[in-house]
Amino acid sequence: MAAGDGVAILIAAMGIDAEWDAGAYHRVADPQFEWGRRLLATLSLRGDETVIDAGCGTGRLTRLLLERLTSGRMIAIDLSERMLESARENLEPDFHGRVEYVRVDLLDLAQRDVADLVFSTATFHWLPDHARLFRNLVAALRPGGRLTAQFGGKGNLARARSRAEGILAEPSFRPFFEGWSGPWHYPDAQVTAERLRQAGFQDVRTRLFPEPTTFPDADAFRQFITAVVFRVHLQRIVDPRLREEFLDRCVAAAAGDDPPYTLDYWRLNAEGRKPERPREGAPA
Ligand SMILES: C[S@@+](CC[C@H](N)C(=O)[O-])C[C@H]1O[C@@H](n2cnc3c(N)ncnc32)[C@H](O)[C@@H]1O
Repeated sequence: MAAGDGVAILIAAMGIDAEWDAGAYHRVADPQFEWGRRLLATLSLRGDETVIDAGCGTGRLTRLLLERLTSGRMIAIDLSERMLESARENLEPDFHGRVEYVRVDLLDLAQRDVADLVFSTATFHWLPDHARLFRNLVAALRPGGRLTAQFGGKGNLARARSRAEGILAEPSFRPFFEGWSGPWHYPDAQVTAERLRQAGFQDVRTRLFPEPTTFPDADAFRQFITAVVFRVHLQRIVDPRLREEFLDRCVAAAAGDDPPYTLDYWRLNAEGRKPERPREGAPA
């Protein structure tokens, strides 16, 4: 057995990839909140819908949705126990009885014909199988129901990832990453549109666009990449000294960005509608 195998087995046994530091995410994820807020502003809602927030995180955007659902209800879904617990703490005082909290992998979602809208932000790129994801989402929607989502698309964080990959390929880091292809899936707009249609959505629209995001200083940048961008990488670097070295070097490299401390985000917006009637030949 190679040294890297031992580390990989340890990481798998700890089951760490799915968990987040929900408190840190809640504090630093203003960019995600702002992108989601803008997406939400494009939505028309009657107010009585049932809405799934797919990958609700700590519930900051779920709250904005709930404020627009005067008589509707939410199904807040997340795989991370800590994220869902944080969402519950943040939402229950104001929306008690109107939110169902469901801890499930969206790839295993088994809800059928329950929602008028699936809303999702900053989540789908964490899932490896979008064909299966979209089949599950279309099944969870009622006939005529809509999907509105935004996630990382082709080219997302290409510069930040390439810098990190350079560091992590060095001998002191390599054992933590052997046989690991990374946590993200960043498709382009065309592939996503095709997958949505294949899954059974109609009126499909997708759009990929740059969203470069600049942080005020080294400290803010470091906190953000720790809690969000390289969260899973850091979980794998079991040696705390190497974790600090990795962060120091990412921050030092970002100081040379123009403007300094900029992450090269690309977002993909995806919309579709479940047909009122099943397509001919579609599975019942
Ligand atoms: C970056 S956070 C986004 C949270 C929130 N939507 C926002 O925009 O701030 C991604 C969320 O997706 C959740 N997630 C990742 N993979 C998932 C999966 N397979 N099933 C359900 N939730 C998942 C994570 O636990 C996390 O809470």
